[in-house]
Amino acid sequence: MDGNGRWATRRFLPRTAGHVRGVQAVRKVVESCGRRGVEFLTLFAFSSENWRRPKDEVSLLMKLFMQTLEKEVDQLVEQGVRLRVVGDLAAFEPRLQGLIHSAQEKTAHNTRLNLTIAANYGGRWDILNAMRSVLRTQPELLRDPEKLDETVLAPHLSMAFAPEPDLFIRTGGEQRISNFLVWQLAYTELYFTPDYWPDFGDSQLEAAFEWYRGRERRFGRTSDQLTPASN
Ligand code: FPP
Repeated sequence: MDGNGRWATRRFLPRTAGHVRGVQAVRKVVESCGRRGVEFLTLFAFSSENWRRPKDEVSLLMKLFMQTLEKEVDQLVEQGVRLRVVGDLAAFEPRLQGLIHSAQEKTAHNTRLNLTIAANYGGRWDILNAMRSVLRTQPELLRDPEKLDETVLAPHLSMAFAPEPDLFIRTGGEQRISNFLVWQLAYTELYFTPDYWPDFGDSQLEAAFEWYRGRERRFGRTSDQLTPASN
């Protein structure tokens, strides 16, 4: 969700105003995904690198996160949205951790849309964390490292409950992954748009889906192998 700061600066507003509008865009996109039958939506809200931002901006982001969790949870329940938060949550203040825990519990029975917020998340952290978890739970692998393969590691990743993403969308014009779901994006279609996140809504989502429909996903095969007759 990139471009909040630039959206605000262009309007001679403080960067934080962009984040406030960013929350409105989150609401629109969650609704739109629910209506369209998207089953998994994962939003990168705060990277492990974002702590380096000015103190005021970080504390506004934390405040917004808490307010949104408090205000929106009933709406999420009504919409059938199951909320999960992934990332190194221990770094957050206890009140925020409590709100995350209770929002996850309140929405745990929902099945329509799986909404995941990545907060204090980094793709490399996720892989290292998974490796640590493998070593803790299966120390015998140290004697037989050849047995360590993708199927052993993947269940220990923080998004193990979800399929790998079909489509990645980055707003704000940058064309990089910036340590998002590094492992999980291996076969994902990557879509970059210059739109700033606060301007992203239903029609921008439709444009991304339209682009995705035109992609041919080969997973290492040739085009010919993908036609039904040759499968
Ligand atoms: C990137 O834009 C955006 C962020 C670091 C924060 C994203 C947060 C929100 C949309 C609000 C909180 C989210 C939830 C789920 C409650 P930027 O500030 O890097 O923009 P810039 O590149 O234009 O400076």
